[in-house]
Amino acid sequence: MTEVTRKEAVGAQSSHCQKWLGGTKKNNEKSQDRNFPGRYSNQHIHLTMSGSWLEKYGPVVGLLLGSAPLIAVSGPHAVLEVLRRDEFHGRPDSEEIRERSFNKRLGILLTDGPFWVEHRRFTIKHLKDFGFGKKSAEAVILEETEQLMIEMKEMKVVQVSGLFNIPSVNVLWSMIAGTRYAHDDADFKLLLHKLNSFFRSGSPAGNLATIFPVLKKIAPELCGHKKKMEALNELTNFFRKTIHEHKLMLEENNPRDFMDVYLQQMEAEKADDNSTFTEEGLIVLCLDLFSAGAESLSNALSFCLLYMVLHPRVQEAVQKEVDTVIGRSRRPSLEDRTRLPYVEATISEISRINPIAPITLPHTSLRDTELCGYTIKENTTILVNIWSVLHDREHWSDPEVFRPERFLDADGKFVKDERLIPFGVGKRVCLGEILAKDMLFLMFTNLMQEFTFRTPEEDPYPTTDALPGFITAPAPFRVQVTER
Ligand code: HEM
Repeated sequence: MTEVTRKEAVGAQSSHCQKWLGGTKKNNEKSQDRNFPGRYSNQHIHLTMSGSWLEKYGPVVGLLLGSAPLIAVSGPHAVLEVLRRDEFHGRPDSEEIRERSFNKRLGILLTDGPFWVEHRRFTIKHLKDFGFGKKSAEAVILEETEQLMIEMKEMKVVQVSGLFNIPSVNVLWSMIAGTRYAHDDADFKLLLHKLNSFFRSGSPAGNLATIFPVLKKIAPELCGHKKKMEALNELTNFFRKTIHEHKLMLEENNPRDFMDVYLQQMEAEKADDNSTFTEEGLIVLCLDLFSAGAESLSNALSFCLLYMVLHPRVQEAVQKEVDTVIGRSRRPSLEDRTRLPYVEATISEISRINPIAPITLPHTSLRDTELCGYTIKENTTILVNIWSVLHDREHWSDPEVFRPERFLDADGKFVKDERLIPFGVGKRVCLGEILAKDMLFLMFTNLMQEFTFRTPEEDPYPTTDALPGFITAPAPFRVQVTER
């Protein structure tokens, strides 16, 4: 077996990147196929990995980021192998990473081993059973959708960036703490502000302090560390306050939401010194669910509107299917999903062509092992390039083309494709996959029933070139909203 190639990550640029960048109003849908290199292409590590690195070095590339060795994995074979093999299911651990969790390993996102298994299982089970208090997930999402539609009717021209933040945070908060806020509620605005400062205060390419820890000591402002820690502190206090309010109202046999169930588990295990259920653990779990869920949901919905304004014929076809199957006298519900194959195909195609998480959260190897003929040492950090699977030319044939029909068979039925993995796959698969799919379906279908979206006359066509970051987003764009 050979050693992993070690290369410095020095700004190699993708030749594979074929994205369309803006243009004049005269551009029509066909312009999407033109090979304009995107404005942010050289800031997207997944494009570099899928392009020049894959071509030159193959699916497994060794890197040194500062002093930290890691491997970057691209291409369907290697990516699916990493995601499916148990020994690659670890998460990196460092002093810097633990700073977000009381200098311990807590939560789900960045833990592994028995602690992670126990907390992941607990969270999945109870979010399903109690997550939405007395209301179903569907009811909460539909309430948020109605509220958003009322606001949109008043706006006419809407800035899409940030449009879905409030509904996304509200849905998650209902799930965790059983409360759905009015959109202008002062406490809610505070929560949104704290979340925003926490997520936005790091550099989009990742906090520099993780790569060069010394920066944290000598120039905290420079690497965004100080601001991020302040925001984290405020967020932690907000969650702590809510937990204490829950403690006061806790009824033994009547848990109202996820926090209550967790608190009951803490109570049940309080005599056990080895119990892993602690108040700090619950705070970090809240932080994890917001970190992983809020921006992803919001950005995924923004991408839906983006592709609808860029592809009016697809928008029309979606509306036609909604009108035919559901009509205009009632709202679409989750039960309608199987009867709306074109809608399902369109959402699938949007999440394939511009995935929110083009690279998964970092994995690590839990023991010495091998991958594609390379020796991988225990504790090696692994960047897993999902984008390269979603854009694999051999499988999709024209991956850069937006074509929902690729998910339909000759009879127009929706066909699942096992290579459609925007939520990852294997034991580390996204914990919020079902919730996210439900929310995307419900919000998208309801919006399509009620409105037509276009680019305002005075605006340029928006770009499909996503903003860089571990969670990507469309570059800011506006839509004109017309009631149907
Ligand atoms: C469109 C929306 C979403 C997308 C595309 C998405 C995608 C992903 C991906 C790719 C991963 C990494 C898998 C890996 O590391 O191998 C992940 C992990 C995770 N996601 Fe999501 N996600 C979305 C929404 C959500 C929501 C709404 C929640 C919260 C309810 C959530 C909670 C999580 C958690 C907790 C993890 C870590 C799982 C673990 O490490 O065991 N996600 N997600």
